[in-house]
Amino acid sequence: MRAAVCREYGPPEVVQVEDHPAPALGPGQVRVRVHAAAVNFPDVLLVADKYQVSVPPPFVPGSEFAGVVSEVADDVDPTSAGAVAVGDRVIGTAMVGAFAEEAVATAATVQRIPAGVDVRTAAAFGVAHRTAYHVLRSVAALQPGEELIVLGAGGGVGLAAVQLGAHLGATVTAVASSPDKLAVAEAHGAAHLVDHRAGDLRPALRAVLPDGGDVVVDPVGGALAEPALRSLRWGGRFVTVGYASGEIPRIPLNLVLLKGVQVLGFQFLAFATNAPDEAERNEGELMALLAAGRATPHIGATFPLDEAAAALRYVADGRAIGKVVLDIAETAVEN
Ligand SMILES: NC(=O)c1ccc[n+]([C@@H]2O[C@H](COP(=O)([O-])OP(=O)(O)OC[C@H]3O[C@@H](n4cnc5c(N)ncnc54)[C@H](OP(=O)(O)O)[C@@H]3O)[C@@H](O)[C@H]2O)c1
Repeated sequence: MRAAVCREYGPPEVVQVEDHPAPALGPGQVRVRVHAAAVNFPDVLLVADKYQVSVPPPFVPGSEFAGVVSEVADDVDPTSAGAVAVGDRVIGTAMVGAFAEEAVATAATVQRIPAGVDVRTAAAFGVAHRTAYHVLRSVAALQPGEELIVLGAGGGVGLAAVQLGAHLGATVTAVASSPDKLAVAEAHGAAHLVDHRAGDLRPALRAVLPDGGDVVVDPVGGALAEPALRSLRWGGRFVTVGYASGEIPRIPLNLVLLKGVQVLGFQFLAFATNAPDEAERNEGELMALLAAGRATPHIGATFPLDEAAAALRYVADGRAIGKVVLDIAETAVEN
Protein backbone atom coordinates (compact mmCIF):
# COMPACT_ATOMS: atom_id res chain seq x y z
CA MET A 1 0.00 0.00 0.00
CA ARG A 2 1.01 3.67 -0.31
CA ALA A 3 1.70 5.35 3.01
CA ALA A 4 3.37 8.42 4.46
CA VAL A 5 6.27 7.14 6.56
CA CYS A 6 8.37 8.79 9.26
CA ARG A 7 11.78 7.03 9.20
CA GLU A 8 13.54 9.47 11.57
CA TYR A 9 12.32 12.15 13.96
CA GLY A 10 12.41 15.69 12.68
CA PRO A 11 10.41 18.45 10.97
CA PRO A 12 7.41 17.56 8.74
CA GLU A 13 9.72 17.23 5.72
CA VAL A 14 11.17 13.94 7.04
CA VAL A 15 7.85 12.28 6.16
CA GLN A 16 8.01 10.52 2.76
CA VAL A 17 5.29 8.73 0.83
CA GLU A 18 6.37 5.23 -0.23
CA ASP A 19 5.24 1.63 -0.71
CA HIS A 20 4.85 0.19 2.75
CA PRO A 21 3.58 -3.17 4.04
CA ALA A 22 -0.09 -3.09 5.00
CA PRO A 23 -0.55 -3.38 8.78
CA ALA A 24 -1.31 -6.86 10.11
CA LEU A 25 -4.84 -7.40 11.39
CA GLY A 26 -4.64 -8.23 15.09
CA PRO A 27 -7.18 -9.88 17.38
CA GLY A 28 -10.25 -7.73 17.96
CA GLN A 29 -9.38 -5.41 15.07
CA VAL A 30 -10.90 -4.26 11.81
CA ARG A 31 -9.08 -3.23 8.64
CA VAL A 32 -10.27 -0.01 6.99
CA ARG A 33 -9.62 1.16 3.43
CA VAL A 34 -8.88 4.78 4.24
CA HIS A 35 -10.51 7.46 2.09
CA ALA A 36 -9.59 10.55 4.08
CA ALA A 37 -7.46 11.37 7.13
CA ALA A 38 -7.33 14.51 9.25
CA VAL A 39 -4.01 16.16 10.06
CA ASN A 40 -3.67 17.22 13.69
CA PHE A 41 -1.10 19.22 15.62
CA PRO A 42 -0.09 16.15 17.71
CA ASP A 43 0.91 14.39 14.43
CA VAL A 44 3.51 17.14 13.96
CA LEU A 45 4.69 16.66 17.54
CA LEU A 46 4.94 12.86 17.18
CA VAL A 47 7.06 13.20 14.01
CA ALA A 48 9.34 15.61 15.90
CA ASP A 49 9.38 13.33 18.99
CA LYS A 50 8.00 16.24 21.04
CA TYR A 51 4.71 14.59 22.06
CA GLN A 52 3.94 13.20 25.53
CA VAL A 53 4.67 9.70 24.22
CA SER A 54 7.26 8.52 21.69
CA VAL A 55 6.61 6.17 18.78
CA PRO A 56 9.82 4.57 17.49
CA PRO A 57 10.46 5.10 13.74
CA PRO A 58 9.67 3.88 11.20
CA PHE A 59 5.96 4.63 11.66
CA VAL A 60 3.04 5.93 9.63
CA PRO A 61 1.75 9.14 11.23
CA GLY A 62 -1.91 10.12 11.33
CA SER A 63 -4.41 9.62 14.13
CA GLU A 64 -7.84 10.13 12.53
CA PHE A 65 -9.27 8.41 9.49
CA ALA A 66 -12.52 7.70 7.68
CA GLY A 67 -13.14 4.95 5.17
CA VAL A 68 -14.75 1.58 4.54
CA VAL A 69 -14.28 -1.62 6.56
CA SER A 70 -12.54 -4.24 4.36
CA GLU A 71 -11.84 -7.00 6.91
CA VAL A 72 -12.96 -7.95 10.41
CA ALA A 73 -10.90 -10.21 12.73
CA ASP A 74 -12.47 -13.62 13.38
CA ASP A 75 -12.79 -13.01 17.11
CA VAL A 76 -14.88 -9.82 16.77
CA ASP A 77 -18.41 -10.55 17.97
CA PRO A 78 -20.77 -9.37 15.17
CA THR A 79 -23.65 -9.15 17.66
CA SER A 80 -21.90 -6.80 20.12
CA ALA A 81 -23.26 -3.26 20.50
CA GLY A 82 -22.06 -0.97 17.73
CA ALA A 83 -20.35 -3.84 15.85
CA VAL A 84 -19.31 -2.98 12.30
CA ALA A 85 -19.16 -5.23 9.22
CA VAL A 86 -17.30 -5.31 5.91
CA GLY A 87 -18.61 -2.48 3.72
CA ASP A 88 -19.58 -0.17 6.59
CA ARG A 89 -18.40 3.44 6.41
CA VAL A 90 -16.55 4.24 9.64
CA ILE A 91 -14.38 6.77 11.43
CA GLY A 92 -11.53 5.70 13.65
CA THR A 93 -8.76 7.10 15.80
CA ALA A 94 -5.38 5.64 16.72
CA MET A 95 -2.04 6.96 17.90
CA VAL A 96 -0.54 6.52 14.40
CA GLY A 97 -1.27 4.80 11.08
CA ALA A 98 -3.92 6.97 9.40
CA PHE A 99 -1.85 8.48 6.56
CA ALA A 100 -2.04 5.28 4.51
CA GLU A 101 -4.32 3.44 2.14
CA GLU A 102 -5.12 0.91 4.87
CA ALA A 103 -5.34 1.23 8.63
CA VAL A 104 -6.25 -1.19 11.40
CA ALA A 105 -8.03 -0.27 14.62
CA THR A 106 -9.69 -2.00 17.53
CA ALA A 107 -13.24 -2.81 16.42
CA ALA A 108 -14.77 -1.26 19.52
CA THR A 109 -13.12 2.10 18.78
CA VAL A 110 -14.47 2.66 15.25
CA GLN A 111 -17.88 4.23 14.77
CA ARG A 112 -20.28 4.13 11.83
CA ILE A 113 -20.49 7.39 9.88
CA PRO A 114 -24.05 8.71 10.11
CA ALA A 115 -26.03 8.57 6.84
CA GLY A 116 -25.79 11.85 4.95
CA VAL A 117 -22.30 12.70 6.23
CA ASP A 118 -19.51 12.42 3.62
CA VAL A 119 -16.22 10.67 4.51
CA ARG A 120 -14.09 13.80 4.35
CA THR A 121 -16.33 15.60 6.83
CA ALA A 122 -16.34 12.49 9.02
CA ALA A 123 -12.51 12.31 8.99
CA ALA A 124 -12.30 15.96 10.07
CA PHE A 125 -14.81 15.57 12.86
CA GLY A 126 -12.96 13.44 15.38
CA VAL A 127 -10.38 14.73 17.82
CA ALA A 128 -10.97 18.49 17.56
CA HIS A 129 -14.74 18.42 18.01
CA ARG A 130 -14.60 15.72 20.66
CA THR A 131 -11.94 17.63 22.60
CA ALA A 132 -13.88 20.88 22.39
CA TYR A 133 -17.14 19.23 23.42
CA HIS A 134 -15.69 17.35 26.41
CA VAL A 135 -13.99 20.59 27.51
CA LEU A 136 -17.11 22.74 27.25
CA ARG A 137 -19.71 20.22 28.39
CA SER A 138 -17.83 18.47 31.23
CA VAL A 139 -14.69 20.35 32.27
CA ALA A 140 -15.93 23.95 32.01
CA ALA A 141 -19.61 22.96 32.45
CA LEU A 142 -20.49 25.87 30.15
CA GLN A 143 -23.97 27.29 30.75
CA PRO A 144 -26.32 29.10 28.36
CA GLY A 145 -25.81 32.86 28.54
CA GLU A 146 -22.19 32.65 29.71
CA GLU A 147 -19.33 34.55 28.08
CA LEU A 148 -16.83 32.14 26.50
CA ILE A 149 -13.36 33.27 25.33
CA VAL A 150 -11.66 30.90 22.84
CA LEU A 151 -7.96 31.24 22.05
CA GLY A 152 -6.65 29.77 18.78
CA ALA A 153 -10.18 30.24 17.48
CA GLY A 154 -9.18 29.62 13.87
CA GLY A 155 -7.53 26.26 14.65
CA GLY A 156 -9.06 22.79 14.83
CA VAL A 157 -9.90 22.68 18.54
CA GLY A 158 -10.55 26.43 18.79
CA LEU A 159 -12.96 26.65 15.87
CA ALA A 160 -14.82 23.58 17.15
CA ALA A 161 -15.05 25.27 20.57
CA VAL A 162 -16.47 28.40 18.93
CA GLN A 163 -19.11 26.39 17.08
CA LEU A 164 -20.04 24.15 20.01
CA GLY A 165 -19.92 26.99 22.56
CA ALA A 166 -22.43 28.94 20.48
CA HIS A 167 -24.52 25.77 20.16
CA LEU A 168 -24.52 25.41 23.97
CA GLY A 169 -25.89 28.94 24.26
CA ALA A 170 -22.78 30.91 25.22
CA THR A 171 -21.75 34.25 23.76
CA VAL A 172 -18.39 33.52 22.15
CA THR A 173 -15.35 35.82 21.88
CA ALA A 174 -12.91 34.44 19.31
CA VAL A 175 -9.20 35.27 19.61
CA ALA A 176 -6.96 34.53 16.61
CA SER A 177 -4.03 35.92 14.65
CA SER A 178 -5.63 37.02 11.38
CA PRO A 179 -8.79 38.56 9.91
CA ASP A 180 -9.24 35.42 7.74
CA LYS A 181 -9.34 33.14 10.79
CA LEU A 182 -11.66 35.51 12.64
CA ALA A 183 -14.04 35.70 9.67
CA VAL A 184 -14.40 31.91 9.74
CA ALA A 185 -14.91 32.01 13.53
CA GLU A 186 -17.66 34.60 13.04
CA ALA A 187 -19.34 32.38 10.45
CA HIS A 188 -19.30 29.59 13.07
CA GLY A 189 -21.03 31.65 15.74
CA ALA A 190 -18.50 34.01 17.37
CA ALA A 191 -20.11 37.27 18.53
CA HIS A 192 -16.88 39.16 19.31
CA LEU A 193 -13.63 38.97 17.30
CA VAL A 194 -10.18 39.84 18.68
CA ASP A 195 -7.03 39.85 16.53
CA HIS A 196 -4.22 39.36 19.06
CA ARG A 197 -1.64 40.51 16.53
CA ALA A 198 -3.35 43.94 16.38
CA GLY A 199 -2.37 44.92 19.96
CA ASP A 200 -2.28 43.78 23.58
CA LEU A 201 -4.82 41.09 24.34
CA ARG A 202 -5.89 42.30 27.81
CA PRO A 203 -7.26 45.74 26.74
CA ALA A 204 -8.75 44.21 23.57
CA LEU A 205 -10.69 41.69 25.66
CA ARG A 206 -11.70 44.39 28.18
CA ALA A 207 -13.15 46.42 25.32
CA VAL A 208 -15.49 43.62 24.20
CA LEU A 209 -16.10 42.11 27.67
CA PRO A 210 -16.12 44.99 30.20
CA ASP A 211 -17.58 42.68 32.89
CA GLY A 212 -15.14 39.86 32.10
CA GLY A 213 -15.59 36.38 30.73
CA ASP A 214 -16.90 33.23 32.43
CA VAL A 215 -14.77 30.62 30.67
CA VAL A 216 -11.49 30.58 28.72
CA VAL A 217 -10.63 27.64 26.45
CA ASP A 218 -6.88 27.71 25.72
CA PRO A 219 -5.32 25.33 23.16
CA VAL A 220 -2.44 27.79 22.49
CA GLY A 221 -0.68 28.71 25.75
CA GLY A 222 2.37 30.98 25.50
CA ALA A 223 1.95 34.71 25.95
CA LEU A 224 -1.84 34.68 25.41
CA ALA A 225 -2.75 32.58 28.44
CA GLU A 226 -2.13 35.12 31.21
CA PRO A 227 -4.00 38.09 29.66
CA ALA A 228 -6.89 35.73 28.86
CA LEU A 229 -6.98 34.52 32.48
CA ARG A 230 -6.85 38.14 33.69
CA SER A 231 -9.94 38.77 31.54
CA LEU A 232 -12.08 36.36 33.55
CA ARG A 233 -14.59 37.70 36.05
CA TRP A 234 -14.71 36.52 39.69
CA GLY A 235 -15.08 32.72 39.82
CA GLY A 236 -14.36 32.20 36.12
CA ARG A 237 -12.98 28.91 34.71
CA PHE A 238 -9.76 28.66 32.70
CA VAL A 239 -9.28 25.37 30.81
CA THR A 240 -5.79 24.55 29.55
CA VAL A 241 -6.04 22.21 26.55
CA GLY A 242 -2.75 22.49 24.66
CA TYR A 243 0.33 24.52 23.84
CA ALA A 244 0.34 25.09 20.08
CA SER A 245 2.50 28.18 20.64
CA GLY A 246 5.27 25.85 21.79
CA GLU A 247 5.38 27.48 25.23
CA ILE A 248 3.80 26.20 28.45
CA PRO A 249 2.64 29.34 30.30
CA ARG A 250 3.48 29.99 33.94
CA ILE A 251 0.61 31.78 35.64
CA PRO A 252 1.21 33.80 38.86
CA LEU A 253 -1.00 32.10 41.45
CA ASN A 254 -1.98 35.43 43.01
CA LEU A 255 -4.23 35.98 39.96
CA VAL A 256 -6.07 32.78 40.82
CA LEU A 257 -6.36 33.88 44.45
CA LEU A 258 -7.56 37.41 43.68
CA LYS A 259 -10.20 36.36 41.17
CA GLY A 260 -11.30 33.06 42.72
CA VAL A 261 -10.55 31.54 39.34
CA GLN A 262 -10.66 27.77 38.74
CA VAL A 263 -7.78 26.54 36.58
CA LEU A 264 -8.78 23.26 34.94
CA GLY A 265 -7.09 20.86 32.55
CA PHE A 266 -8.21 18.43 29.88
CA GLN A 267 -6.33 15.45 28.46
CA PHE A 268 -8.26 13.17 26.15
CA LEU A 269 -7.12 9.71 27.29
CA ALA A 270 -7.14 10.65 30.96
CA PHE A 271 -10.70 11.98 30.64
CA ALA A 272 -11.97 8.95 28.70
CA THR A 273 -10.33 6.61 31.23
CA ASN A 274 -11.40 8.40 34.40
CA ALA A 275 -14.87 9.59 33.37
CA PRO A 276 -16.04 6.85 30.95
CA ASP A 277 -19.78 7.41 31.49
CA GLU A 278 -19.52 11.14 30.95
CA ALA A 279 -17.29 10.63 27.90
CA GLU A 280 -19.82 8.18 26.40
CA ARG A 281 -22.72 10.57 27.01
CA ASN A 282 -20.80 13.41 25.37
CA GLU A 283 -19.82 11.27 22.36
CA GLY A 284 -23.45 10.27 21.85
CA GLU A 285 -24.62 13.89 21.98
CA LEU A 286 -21.88 14.93 19.58
CA MET A 287 -22.61 12.21 17.00
CA ALA A 288 -26.27 13.27 17.09
CA LEU A 289 -25.20 16.88 16.37
CA LEU A 290 -23.06 15.65 13.45
CA ALA A 291 -25.89 13.50 12.05
CA ALA A 292 -28.29 16.45 12.29
CA GLY A 293 -25.83 18.78 10.53
CA ARG A 294 -25.67 21.00 13.63
CA ALA A 295 -21.93 20.49 14.19
CA THR A 296 -19.83 20.36 11.04
CA PRO A 297 -16.07 20.74 10.87
CA HIS A 298 -14.70 23.53 8.70
CA ILE A 299 -12.17 22.02 6.26
CA GLY A 300 -9.79 24.84 5.45
CA ALA A 301 -7.37 22.88 3.24
CA THR A 302 -7.04 19.48 1.59
CA PHE A 303 -3.89 17.76 0.30
CA PRO A 304 -3.34 14.48 -1.59
CA LEU A 305 -1.54 11.70 0.31
CA ASP A 306 1.61 12.39 -1.74
CA GLU A 307 1.78 15.83 -0.09
CA ALA A 308 1.48 14.57 3.50
CA ALA A 309 4.67 16.43 4.51
CA ALA A 310 3.28 19.71 3.12
CA ALA A 311 0.04 19.13 5.03
CA LEU A 312 1.99 18.59 8.26
CA ARG A 313 4.04 21.73 7.55
CA TYR A 314 0.83 23.73 6.99
CA VAL A 315 -0.45 22.65 10.41
CA ALA A 316 2.96 23.10 12.09
CA ASP A 317 3.10 26.71 10.93
CA GLY A 318 -0.33 27.52 12.40
CA ARG A 319 -1.73 28.32 8.94
CA ALA A 320 -4.64 25.90 9.11
CA ILE A 321 -8.13 27.32 9.39
CA GLY A 322 -10.31 24.66 10.97
CA LYS A 323 -9.21 21.23 9.81
CA VAL A 324 -6.69 20.00 7.24
CA VAL A 325 -7.58 16.76 5.44
CA LEU A 326 -5.57 14.29 3.34
CA ASP A 327 -7.55 12.82 0.44
CA ILE A 328 -6.29 9.25 0.21
CA ALA A 329 -8.61 7.15 -1.98
CA GLU A 330 -9.09 8.17 -5.59
CA THR A 331 -12.84 7.93 -5.43
CA ALA A 332 -14.45 9.13 -2.27
CA VAL A 333 -17.23 6.85 -1.07
CA GLU A 334 -20.25 8.96 -0.34
CA ASN A 335 -23.18 8.09 1.86
N1 LIG B 1 -5.59 18.03 25.66
C1 LIG B 1 -5.98 17.25 24.67
O1 LIG B 1 -6.46 16.13 24.85
C2 LIG B 1 -5.82 17.77 23.29
C3 LIG B 1 -6.63 17.30 22.25
C4 LIG B 1 -6.47 17.85 20.98
C5 LIG B 1 -5.49 18.82 20.76
N2 LIG B 1 -4.70 19.22 21.79
C6 LIG B 1 -3.68 20.25 21.62
O2 LIG B 1 -4.32 21.48 21.37
C7 LIG B 1 -3.48 22.29 20.59
C8 LIG B 1 -4.24 22.84 19.41
O3 LIG B 1 -4.63 21.77 18.56
P1 LIG B 1 -5.37 22.11 17.19
O4 LIG B 1 -5.71 20.82 16.56
O5 LIG B 1 -6.43 23.11 17.41
O6 LIG B 1 -4.17 22.80 16.37
P2 LIG B 1 -4.28 23.79 15.13
O7 LIG B 1 -5.48 23.51 14.32
O8 LIG B 1 -2.95 23.74 14.47
O9 LIG B 1 -4.48 25.23 15.82
C9 LIG B 1 -3.53 25.74 16.72
C10 LIG B 1 -3.70 27.25 16.86
O10 LIG B 1 -2.66 27.68 17.74
C11 LIG B 1 -2.21 28.97 17.39
N3 LIG B 1 -0.76 29.09 17.38
C12 LIG B 1 -0.05 30.04 18.02
N4 LIG B 1 1.24 29.89 17.86
C13 LIG B 1 1.40 28.84 17.06
C14 LIG B 1 2.55 28.20 16.52
N5 LIG B 1 3.79 28.62 16.79
N6 LIG B 1 2.36 27.13 15.73
C15 LIG B 1 1.12 26.66 15.49
N7 LIG B 1 -0.03 27.22 15.99
C16 LIG B 1 0.13 28.30 16.76
C17 LIG B 1 -2.83 29.29 16.05
O11 LIG B 1 -3.80 30.27 16.34
P3 LIG B 1 -3.55 31.83 16.13
O12 LIG B 1 -4.50 32.25 15.09
O13 LIG B 1 -3.81 32.44 17.44
O14 LIG B 1 -2.12 31.98 15.68
C18 LIG B 1 -3.50 28.00 15.58
O15 LIG B 1 -4.72 28.26 14.93
C19 LIG B 1 -2.27 21.44 20.21
O16 LIG B 1 -1.20 21.74 21.07
C20 LIG B 1 -2.75 20.02 20.44
O17 LIG B 1 -1.68 19.16 20.75
C21 LIG B 1 -4.86 18.74 23.05
